[in-house]
Amino acid sequence: MRLSSILKTTVLLTVCVLVGVAIAQRDLVTAAFQTNPFHGSAESVARGEQLWGQYCLSCHGPEAVGDGPASALLPKRPKDLTMIAPSPIFPDGIVAFRIAHGKNTMPAWQDTLSGDQMWDLVSFIRSKSRR
Ligand code: HEC
Repeated sequence: MRLSSILKTTVLLTVCVLVGVAIAQRDLVTAAFQTNPFHGSAESVARGEQLWGQYCLSCHGPEAVGDGPASALLPKRPKDLTMIAPSPIFPDGIVAFRIAHGKNTMPAWQDTLSGDQMWDLVSFIRSKSRR
């Protein structure tokens, strides 16, 4: 094979892989562009704090650093959510997506919580940010 055709094949394969990943992860890609309709308002943070105590504190802890009473029982402790990068590096939409869909031992909340409630939780998590 000539060098130019190897190059063309490589470029074509790379494009196919990138398109494939974008299609497979299209919900995630779409989520990345979603913005918090409450813009982290004080009211939204207060509602989020209520929900946090009810649904999330047991694993994530009161300050979201990952030290909830149940966290020691988990195979992997939750990350310190006060250290996640702000939008747009780690977009609000991805945080909301993770809450909705879960990940490993992190439960999915989309059947329990409304969309608005999940945004209130994003507001609460962002209010705890130390970055
Ligand atoms: C049963 C314990 C448990 C409960 C309850 C729980 N989480 Fe989690 N959560 C985890 C674990 C464990 C992880 C880390 C998952 C991983 O990366 O493997 C996590 C990760 C996360 C992440 C980060 C995901 C990422 O991409 O890094 C967010 C945001 C989050 N949880 C929010 C919440 C919210 C909001 C609630 C309440 C509605 C909640 N969690 C309830 C255990 C829990």
